[in-house]
Amino acid sequence: MGMCIDIAMPSLLISPPVMTDQKTLNEISRRRTFAIISHPDAGKTTLTEKLLLYGGAINAAGSVRARRDQRTTTSDWMELEKQRGISISSTLLQFDYGGCVINLLDTPGHKDFSEDTYRVLTAVDSVVMVIDAAKGIEERTRKLFEICRLRGIPIFTFMNKMDRPAMHPMELVDQLEKVLGIGAFPVTWPLGSGAEFLGVYDRLQKKLHRFERTAHNKYRAPDQVSSIHDENLRREIPASLLDPWIEELEILSGAGESFAEDQLKAGKITPVFFGSGMTNFGVQLLLDYFIMHGAPPQPRLSVDGRLVSPEDPDFSSFVFKVQANMNPKHRDRLTFLRVCSGKFVKDMVVSDPETGKPVRLSYPQKLFAQERESLEEAYPGDIVGLVTHKAFHIGATLTSNPEIRYDEIPRFPPEAFAFIRNSGASKYKQLRAGLDQLLEEGVIQSFTMPGDYQSSILLGAVGQLQFDVVLYRLQNEYGADPRLEPAPYTQIRWFEPDIKKEQFDNDFLGSGVTLALDIRGQLVILFATEWDANYFAQKRPTLVLHRVSPHETGGSK
Ligand code: G4P
Repeated sequence: MGMCIDIAMPSLLISPPVMTDQKTLNEISRRRTFAIISHPDAGKTTLTEKLLLYGGAINAAGSVRARRDQRTTTSDWMELEKQRGISISSTLLQFDYGGCVINLLDTPGHKDFSEDTYRVLTAVDSVVMVIDAAKGIEERTRKLFEICRLRGIPIFTFMNKMDRPAMHPMELVDQLEKVLGIGAFPVTWPLGSGAEFLGVYDRLQKKLHRFERTAHNKYRAPDQVSSIHDENLRREIPASLLDPWIEELEILSGAGESFAEDQLKAGKITPVFFGSGMTNFGVQLLLDYFIMHGAPPQPRLSVDGRLVSPEDPDFSSFVFKVQANMNPKHRDRLTFLRVCSGKFVKDMVVSDPETGKPVRLSYPQKLFAQERESLEEAYPGDIVGLVTHKAFHIGATLTSNPEIRYDEIPRFPPEAFAFIRNSGASKYKQLRAGLDQLLEEGVIQSFTMPGDYQSSILLGAVGQLQFDVVLYRLQNEYGADPRLEPAPYTQIRWFEPDIKKEQFDNDFLGSGVTLALDIRGQLVILFATEWDANYFAQKRPTLVLHRVSPHETGGSK
């Protein structure tokens, strides 16, 4: 791989004022960029695969899982994924369906999760929430849902695993409203569950879809469509199943809830689909409805208060993920951009977000899972993987109009802490180099401690898995020999930027409370428990404390 970032002549930066052409407008309106969120094991991977099957991107199910297994042979740090049987890094999938270009960003679905999961949600315009119909709303779903709600992202709900004994559909819908506090509109309604799951009724089209299983569920499930008044139904479906079901449908329509598109777009109601990713039941209906009602690329707010429309002719994008060494053969760094406005063209010149100097965006890649393909152009909604030697920071805005600057990537307060130490004296350089790279990628946050701990670095993560990834990568990619020791904190707060550690003495702080500096030299305070943090704050009401660095949030608490 050659040199990727060239310094171009400054004059190339000045682009003449242009209107967005019709082709670009069409391309924008057909983009649908979304992520699937779920609690681990609810069926996200399975549904992803079935969406690809129904979207025509793969011919037979089985290949995504196969790809997931195969990936570990092409990328060595993903060996960790294999060992843990999980998918750590987000995958991107792009495919054409029904005239739309669908960008599907896979959020890692494992038990411990990382900031990476959250960041993916900054790059999407809609979300599909998969719920295990036997379990209802689980903790991770709730956490991810909260982020979507804060961002006002439209949410589509798929009640999965209806082929197994499930909670009653009314109860599931009720949970959405009570537990998540979001209005729910069932677009489809299941006919039976478990072994008797026969199909779903499309309440908008007023059609019953009855499905048949296929061998190994690899191919599309044959779908017999009929009216609810079809005479054959009485003959083919036992009355004990059919009658209560018709009653439920009447209750639903009697509830008088109508489907309001504007409420969906504002994230205030969620359309609900029932089905089974495993047997392919109900997947097509979700996909078809999604391309009709899923949000096209949305405007984004620049820090100067200007709302940048995707149709703005100026190219703008932001970095939501950086990943080094994805392919050990190349030892390079992939910077993932979400295109927000204008058109991305290979080799285009933008201004460097740090220096303001021109930078050429070469070696753009289109990604399908772990496969890469060279890309010539991209439109708002698209995700571009740039192969770079230069380190762009997560959250950086890359744009042809330097007045646009996005502030899309919030940092999340770490809840797990550990000291990292060098095991032997010899490998310090490797440790430092590796750690610097991982910090740049945003894999982990780091803090320095005064006093006894001067020589060690405190790492902070959202979940324990981030530590495993750090250790694994430091050893395998950088030849370092690090050791992690758990640190007794679970809470961190940032002081106002002008507060210095000399202002506090130990009596003021109290026992079990520690000061540290973040990577920008900002003063932070660490507590063992949330109770300790609250007690500390209560006793010192004039002291302003932030859960995330005020530098990152522009001052929000
Ligand atoms: P995740 O990505 O959300 O973690 O879930 P994943 O798709 O990996 O699914 C978790 C388990 O649930 C898998 O079983 C999968 O086959 C099963 N599953 C997914 N969707 C359905 C469904 O609609 N119905 C039923 N009955 N099961 C479903 P596993 O035993 O862990 O793996 P496997 O051996 O089946 O691959």
